[in-house]
Amino acid sequence: MRRIVFFGAALVLVALVIAGALVSTGVVGAGSAGATLRSIVLFFGDGGSSQPVGSGPHGWTASERGLIASLSIDRLPPLPPDPSNAFGDDPDAVSLGHALFFDSGLSPDGTVSCSTCHMLENYFTDGKVRANVRGVDTPRHTPTIVGIAFSDWFYWDGRKDSQWAQALAPQEAAIEHGGNRMAHARYVLDSYRSQYEALFGPAPDLSDAGRFPPNAAPLGDEAAQAAWAGMTGVDQETVNRVFANIGKSIAAYSRKIMPGRSRFDDYAAAVLANDQDRMTDLFSAEEAEGLRLFFGDGQCTDCHNGPLFTNGTFHNIGLPFPVGSKFDQGRSLGTQQVVEDDFNCLGRYSDASAEECVELRFIKLKGEELVGAFKVPSLRNAANTAPYMHNGNFADLEAVIRHYNHAPPAFPGHSDLVPLALTEAQSAALIAFLLTLSAPPDAPPDLLRPPESSE
Ligand code: HEC
Ligand code: HEC
Repeated sequence: MRRIVFFGAALVLVALVIAGALVSTGVVGAGSAGATLRSIVLFFGDGGSSQPVGSGPHGWTASERGLIASLSIDRLPPLPPDPSNAFGDDPDAVSLGHALFFDSGLSPDGTVSCSTCHMLENYFTDGKVRANVRGVDTPRHTPTIVGIAFSDWFYWDGRKDSQWAQALAPQEAAIEHGGNRMAHARYVLDSYRSQYEALFGPAPDLSDAGRFPPNAAPLGDEAAQAAWAGMTGVDQETVNRVFANIGKSIAAYSRKIMPGRSRFDDYAAAVLANDQDRMTDLFSAEEAEGLRLFFGDGQCTDCHNGPLFTNGTFHNIGLPFPVGSKFDQGRSLGTQQVVEDDFNCLGRYSDASAEECVELRFIKLKGEELVGAFKVPSLRNAANTAPYMHNGNFADLEAVIRHYNHAPPAFPGHSDLVPLALTEAQSAALIAFLLTLSAPPDAPPDLLRPPESSE
């Protein structure tokens, strides 16, 4: 007994040392949301017994049970507040954000809203290879926003450090909403004035067209940029503040969209309870084999771990480029962009104190491992988020597993994968397991519908 206790303590110690090492090397940041998840991932201390309880496909050793539990949604902690967004958990901001997420008034031709690409019926993705509105492809594939509030970094390359700062960028991208902050500030103050003022206080007066031209932004088309350059710094700041508040409201809505309980999570509960009958009811032998491969020979949990099946960091996995496209630098460019972003955690529109911006202050800016690295996506609902990867290059899960089996070297950069060379039966089992991770998003039902006024 004493040996077992000692072994458990040693495991915890090892986990803490590993956690410390990862933080200090900058592989893993130390921010609140990500850190909460990481501590759970690393703490799977159990007695260390290698004897499976039960036998056959559903027989799991104590340490395997610990690993399975670490992936369960039951281990998802409550979402910590985002210190950079004082309105992040305000119900009135949620309802304003809900309206704005679906409002195509935030685009000059009235055709594009966030929900155009993050579609309710597609687990908040669009099913396209690369996002495309008005017939023009964006460079990347649309990821889901479900559970994304637990991230420390946003976008495939992490070029934003909060969900509200992220929500500003698509509004001004020519290939997305195609608008500009001046027009959007005016639109929201006109259309949602009372809701806006109840949250953020008196709306600024933007009626003087000399000081506040109809279209102005520091990015985007040349005319808008010139108009922006002609404004005073104080007036620019006034508009920026309304724009930031729009982002904070949209983020308050998005923060509510969490992953739901999947068949895997019920299976994990049955495993922890040693309930063989329930395990057999819930998972086929093939699905259990897939789970075993997922954290065993498949080494998937090296990167896809914790209740969201992601370690929240960036890796280069040596993906082929789509035909006709250029090399995408990924994280090595994203780090530069996030430190320069006016709307980052340390910026004047953030509600956080500098001490609270741990991730940004300790960001690892350079390194070979950042070249061609992209954010590890959650695998919850992978069945419903095809095509896959930042470039949408893989049409189905079969193609994804083929890639992990071959793991070609990356060029440029360095691939973090080793070829798995799984058999066909093993590859099929892995896919069967991934399909058990499906469940509709979890949120108050009215938030999973367009707001009433837009119907
Ligand atoms: C034209 C389609 C399109 C529109 C419109 C759009 N998005 Fe996206 N969204 C994308 C694509 C593509 C990405 C990934 C881009 C990248 O990583 O460079 C993305 C990424 C994101 C992410 C980051 C997810 C992650 O894994 O880090 C969030 C959050 C998000 N969008 C929310 C929004 C919100 C909020 C709006 C409305 C203000 C919006 N999007 C409008 C296509 C779109
Ligand atoms: C070294 C880290 C690492 C390992 C190990 C790893 N993955 Fe990934 N995975 C990633 C990254 C990074 C991406 C996104 C890559 C990109 O888009 O450039 C990804 C993407 C995926 C996707 C696509 C998800 C989506 O929504 O686009 C699936 C599915 C997936 N991985 C499954 C697996 C499975 C199954 C295993 C084990 C066989 C595994 N991964 C092992 C890092 C890893």
